[in-house]
Amino acid sequence: MRDLLPPEVAVAVAAAGDWTGELLSAEAVCLGERAVETRRRDFTAGRVCARRAMAALGLPPLPVTSSPDRSPAWPAGLVGTITHTRGYCAAAVARAVEVRSVGIDAERHKQLDPGVRRLICSSQEEEHCARLPVGVSWPVVLFSAKETVYKVWHPIVGSWLDFHDAVVELDPSSGTFVARISPAKVAAAPVADPPTVITGRFVVEPEMVRTAAVLRHR
Ligand SMILES: CC(C)(COP(=O)(O)OP(=O)(O)OC[C@H]1O[C@@H](n2cnc3c(N)ncnc32)[C@H](O)[C@@H]1OP(=O)(O)O)[C@@H](O)C(=O)NCCC(=O)NCCS
Repeated sequence: MRDLLPPEVAVAVAAAGDWTGELLSAEAVCLGERAVETRRRDFTAGRVCARRAMAALGLPPLPVTSSPDRSPAWPAGLVGTITHTRGYCAAAVARAVEVRSVGIDAERHKQLDPGVRRLICSSQEEEHCARLPVGVSWPVVLFSAKETVYKVWHPIVGSWLDFHDAVVELDPSSGTFVARISPAKVAAAPVADPPTVITGRFVVEPEMVRTAAVLRHR
C-alpha cells in the first residue's frame, strides 16, 4: 500500500500482534462489547494501524471513532482511511491541510460471479475489462477501485455513491485508474466543489488486489 500513495500520506500495514492490540477507550465504546471475534480483530488492527500512521506524522495517539453510518471519524485536522480483508489490514492518514481526502482498499484476488459483476460493472466496464491482458481478474480490481473511490468521496460529500455512479478505467501499463463520477451525482452533491474525477493507483498480486487514491486540494 505504501507504494500506491504519496509521501505526505502515512501508511501502516498490520503486523501479527496488531489484530489483538489495544483500543483507546472511545474506540472500544464504538466497537461495543458484543462484537464478534473477527469484527473485533479487524476493528482493532485498523485502529492500531491508524495510530501508527499518526505517529509517523509526528502526532500523539488519538482515537478514531466510528460515525453512526460506520464511517471512521478522524481526529480534527486529519483525513484517513482503513481497509481490512482476511489476514490483511492497512490504514493511511494525512494532514487535512495537505490532502483533501484519501481512500484505500484491499480485496482477495479471485473471479467474481457474473451476478456480482453486473452489480459492480456497467456493460462498458465489462467490455473494458475484457480488452485488458489475461491472467488478472480485472473486475475485482475495478471493484476495489470503486470501494476506494467511495472512501474518498464519502468523507467530503457525505452522500451514497452506487457502483454505477462512477465509471472506472484501468491502465495496467501504469498501474493507475481514473474514476469519473456521474454528472447527476456531482450535480446533486450537497457540497461546493465535489470531486468529479478521482485518480488512483493499483497493484495486483496472486492473492490480493490493492487500490489507493488521493484527492488533493485545488
Ligand atoms: C464502506 C465500504 C466501501 C467498505 O469497503 P469493504 O471492502 O466492505 O471493507 P474494507 O475493510 O475495505 O473497509 C472497511 C472500512 O471502511 C471504512 N468505512 C466505512 N464506511 C465508510 C465510508 N462511508 N466512507 C469512508 N470509509 C468508510 C471503515 O473504516 C471500515 O473499517 P472499520 O469499520 O473497521 O472502521 C463498503 O462496505 C461499501 O459500503 N461499499 C458500497 C459503496 C461503494 O463502494 N460504492 C462504489 C462507488 S463507485
